[in-house]
Amino acid sequence: MTENNEKSTEAQKNDHRSTPKASAFTEFIAKDWAKAEDDGYTREPVADYAAERRAKISKAFPGERLVLPAGPLKVRSNDCDYRFRPHSAFAHQTGLGIDHEPDAVLIFEPVEEGTGDNGSNHEVTLYFRPLAGRDTTEFYADARYGEFWVGPRPTLKEFSERFGLRTRDLSELEVAITKNAGNQGLGGVNIRLVRNVDPAVDALVDTSRYNTGVELEQADKLDSELAVALSEARLIKDAIEVENLQRSVDMTVKGFEEVIRALPKAKEHHRGERVVETAFFSVARTDGNDLGYDTIAACGNNATILHWIRNNGTVDDGKLLLLDAGVEDDTLYTADVTRTFPVNGKFTEVQAKVYNAVLDAADAAFAVAKPGTKFYEIHEAAMNVLAHRLEEWGLLPVSADVSLTVEGGQHRRWMPHGTSHHLGLDVHDCAQAKAELYMWAELEPGMVFTIEPALYFKDEDLSVPEEYRGIGIRLEDDVLCTEDGNVNLSAALPRTVEGIEEWMAKLAK
Ligand code: GLY
Ligand code: MN
Ligand code: MN
Repeated sequence: MTENNEKSTEAQKNDHRSTPKASAFTEFIAKDWAKAEDDGYTREPVADYAAERRAKISKAFPGERLVLPAGPLKVRSNDCDYRFRPHSAFAHQTGLGIDHEPDAVLIFEPVEEGTGDNGSNHEVTLYFRPLAGRDTTEFYADARYGEFWVGPRPTLKEFSERFGLRTRDLSELEVAITKNAGNQGLGGVNIRLVRNVDPAVDALVDTSRYNTGVELEQADKLDSELAVALSEARLIKDAIEVENLQRSVDMTVKGFEEVIRALPKAKEHHRGERVVETAFFSVARTDGNDLGYDTIAACGNNATILHWIRNNGTVDDGKLLLLDAGVEDDTLYTADVTRTFPVNGKFTEVQAKVYNAVLDAADAAFAVAKPGTKFYEIHEAAMNVLAHRLEEWGLLPVSADVSLTVEGGQHRRWMPHGTSHHLGLDVHDCAQAKAELYMWAELEPGMVFTIEPALYFKDEDLSVPEEYRGIGIRLEDDVLCTEDGNVNLSAALPRTVEGIEEWMAKLAK
């Protein structure tokens, strides 16, 4: 299917499209459609949470206009687009999930301090392209936005009532962004933009800044401070975000079970890792919205390749399979879970020995993951266990204590990545947060992060005895910090050698 666009005469000669243009057709197709229903909407539970999130951002930027685009549709090829996913800062501040809403822009318009929404400093409005009537050309001829092509889209009334937002037509956006814009100190209104999300909005803001004499350096500072604030606003999850994450994790658990059931087929196939990948994907897509990131389905030595997403290897008896996968919920929150298990259901002695070292490292990390601990201390706790175990096994060229110093680090040869990252709308959530609020900050209730220690002994690693080579083990859980400790959101998946063996045996029946 290709769309029917207005084209120049020259272009029409090569037009493969087939929608008729005759007035007999255009008049007939515009008639006798039932009117779209535009009533009976219920306010979504997320609306009040999103309003709170906006009020917090508003308080940080009084007197300034904030511009948060959802982003445009992205072309896959010619007139075929990818499925739409809004930018995460936009999703967080609006509460909108899947499919909502290409080209939309959320604008925080400054008002007198304390007189805005929820006693904040802004009135916030969502600008988007509302559903066109069934008597319009858009209805049948617009392949990107027309209801005939992509299904109904929301009306202004619908989003206003469901999400508690002021809503306006996208045609009013330019004025909304540019009116009175300029240098705050010189009587204009500062614009702060979430940049590199929507090129059309970037261009609007850039032109306005150029016309009003805002320096490039100053503009960069304004925008990057907003990006940092929006990222930091996601460090502590509210109750509905925790619900969303738990739902994503629960679907992910189901996906892992589906993978265990698919193992016999995976062993038979010359690209068994793809059988594993697609078994998980079937749950991600049927129960959730999508994957939160590309699945790592890695058997044997492939498990020692940190971002192995080619997944075209075999799945072999006697080897371990590392599966790192997460379902993204319709709310766009994702899980990020890893389990490593023996393809034939039984760990060998050396596999179990390495597994238990990783498990002990994870348990040590869990033990310190509570309020008051600094984020980087989770990693330190895990590394302390791994370095000592590697020393015990005679693999470290120095003592564990030396390896654990800043000048050492030899143990990192087998575990070169971090142990934890924040998790939420993005798999690596809050990535723009300042280090003092992320890595060096104390854990607080409501933070959600991974604990994912690992050991990777590559086939090519001549520094370790042969029995270790080709073993890659990572154990990754999703963890909520609470008032007095933590909750393992992914505890429904077994973590111990015995637990995994029993789980696999049960699912094989
Ligand atoms: N799946 C990516 C990560 O574990 O961080
Ligand atoms: Mn992770
Ligand atoms: Mn992961």
